[in-house]
This record gives sequence, structure tokens and C-alpha cells, in this order.
Amino acid sequence: MIGSATSNGRVSITGLGCHAPERVLTNDELSKMVDTSDEWIIERTGIRERRVAAADEALSDVSLPAAKDALEQAGGDAASIDLLIVATVTPDMAFPSTSAIMADQLGMKNAAAYDLSAGCTGFVYAIAQAHSMVSAGLAHRALVVGGDLLSKIVDWGDRSTCVLFGDGAGAVVMERVSEGGFLGFELGADGSGGPQLYLPAGGSRTPASAESVEERLHFVQMNGREVFKFATRVLVSSAEAVLAECGRTIEDVDVYVPHQANVRIIEHARQKLGIPEEKTVVDVDRYGNTSSGSIPLALGDAKADGRLRAGQLVLMTGMGAGLTWGSGLIEWTAGGEG
Ligand code: ACO
Repeated sequence: MIGSATSNGRVSITGLGCHAPERVLTNDELSKMVDTSDEWIIERTGIRERRVAAADEALSDVSLPAAKDALEQAGGDAASIDLLIVATVTPDMAFPSTSAIMADQLGMKNAAAYDLSAGCTGFVYAIAQAHSMVSAGLAHRALVVGGDLLSKIVDWGDRSTCVLFGDGAGAVVMERVSEGGFLGFELGADGSGGPQLYLPAGGSRTPASAESVEERLHFVQMNGREVFKFATRVLVSSAEAVLAECGRTIEDVDVYVPHQANVRIIEHARQKLGIPEEKTVVDVDRYGNTSSGSIPLALGDAKADGRLRAGQLVLMTGMGAGLTWGSGLIEWTAGGEG
């Protein structure tokens, strides 16, 4: 799916908040848990540390501070939000949705609320959907949360996956603006690649059972090399497609926010696209891969270090389980500047 996003007026991000659990897990600590080393992890992934939620912390607990910050920045009270989408693969529980739980906690009496599952691309899918509902006039103010606690679904005995992931969340308020805002989106999915990155049990195909627990089927399974190849390909093709759709070029991009999975993947895409290093946001060294939390956390970092300013063209591209991918192009607006 690809399209320009301006035919029905302008919609933008007017508030942005981020939050990650306090606990920092370093590579050295990991090397005491599995057969790995700080050197291996840094060389292959660029990750130095990640945040890990406490045993009693669920996604809504980590997402709530991010949502409150986004709402405070955008102004207006919670009741003005009439759409809440939480993009995640690690909801508090299968149902009720984490969004319904959060809508209640935030006092959003007038909001439709649902979760969206598109792997690590979830945040980009969710902002595209919120954009469509706001520009169509169905919703007026949307809150979109992207967040995951992958620490809860990785096998801490599997060195090929446990070193890669971390926990975190970000949230944005989206509403109509007079100028700037989203210019276009490109979203895609290739279900034939599903077995490259999946969580086998816990759904209707393989319900939870003593056997599924015994066989460790409730943890992430990944073919790292295939995911690597897929990621480097779609980060480039999706970015190029959305730029062409919007009549923009790589040279027009001021801030590039790729999904934070691995420094080598980001570096490959950056060089192939021809985007200078200083325009590329990288925080995977501090958070690891936070799945749906990755792009909003990186936007938060760029905002904190002064790189996100009104009028700047921001390109974000995500990719992940599904396999899915998605890009959004936005002219940053003052409301989201902080
Ligand atoms: N520490 C030490 N050695 C390790 C570790 C580890 N943590 N993990 C694997 N190895 C070993 C392997 O067993 C292998 O050993 P062998 O040669 O004796 O068989 C060796 O290191 C090389 O393994 P490779 O898989 O070839 O290593 P590679 O350079 O491909 O890096 C990695 C692996 C980091 C997983 C890489 O493939 C990758 O980043 N893939 C993409 C993963 C990803 O981004 N997933 C999520 C994307 S979507 C989403 O965000 C959910």
C-alpha cells in the first residue's frame, strides 16, 4: 500500500513522549547468563546495553508515562482523545486489549481503543491508520503508542536472540494542523517470510499446553541471517518508494529514523540510500531492539538532542515480523517540537 497523505488536509504529530524501564542490562551481565561476550555483541549488533522491565511490570505500566508526556505536550485533556491505538506484540494479555486498559487509566472516556500487531513495524502501521481516521474526520485527536517488552518473550538461554532485544515505549498525539505534517506512507507485508521470525505457541494454532512450555514454544524464534537480508532490502526499497510517491528526494531528508534492530543493518541502509551519518538517528546501542517502541524512542532521542525542529523532513522506516515493513514521511510541526 502506498499513498500521499495530504489530499484530505494536514495531520501531524503534536506531542511525543517516551519511556523505558529503569533496569539496565549490560553485555557483560549477559555474558554471565549465556556463552557470549561484550565484543561479539558490539561487533555484530552495535548494542551495548538494553532496558529490561521488572517481573511485575507490563506493557501498559511502561507505556503510561510515555502517553502522559505526549498528552501534556500536545495540550488539552484526555477526554479530547477519541482514538487510542497501541502497536505491540507483547500486550499485557491477549485480551482485553492494552489500549482499552490504558484508555481507562488515562480517563479517555470518548476513545475507540484497540491493539495493532505488525511486528516491529507496528508503530508505522498505527500512525498510518490514525492518520487516515483523523484526515477522514472519523477521529479528531488520536493517541498512538508503540511499545514492546520483548524481554518477556525471549528465551534467556538462547544467545542468538536474547542479546538483541530490549524493552521500551513511545507515544504520539496526532491531529489536524494547518501546515506540514505527514506527506505519505508506504506499508507492506510478505507472509511467506513469517517463519523467519515468529512466536509459535499461545495462539489458536498451538494453544498453551504442558508440551508447548516443555518445548519452549512460547519464545521468539528467529532465522537471523534471513531477517538480516530482508531488513537491509526493505529499509532501502520502502524509503525510496515513499520519497518518490511524495515527490521528494534523499537530499530533502533532514532526519532519518530507521527501525533500531542492529547498527550493521542501519549502516547498510544509510549508505545504500546515501543519507549522511549525522542525519541518521541511532540509539540501538542503549536500548537494543525494542520492536514497536523503537521508532518513537528514536524520535524522542532526536527531539531531546535538538535534531527535530519544525519544518524538517523526517523519514521513518520500520520492518519486522510478518514479515512487514513500512515508511512514513513527515514535515515536523511546532507542536511536536517540545
Ligand atoms: N554470542 C556469541 N556468538 C554468537 C551469538 C552470541 N550472542 N549468537 C550467535 N553466535 C554465533 C553463532 O552460533 C555462529 O557460530 P558458528 O559460526 O560456530 O555457527 C556465529 O556466532 C555467527 O553467527 P551468525 O548468525 O552468522 O552471525 P551474524 O553475523 O549473522 O549475526 C545476528 C547474527 C546479529 C543475529 C544477525 O544475523 C542479525 O542482526 N540479524 C537480524 C536480526 C534482527 O534484526 N531481528 C529482528 C528484526 S525484526 C524485529 O525487530 C523484531
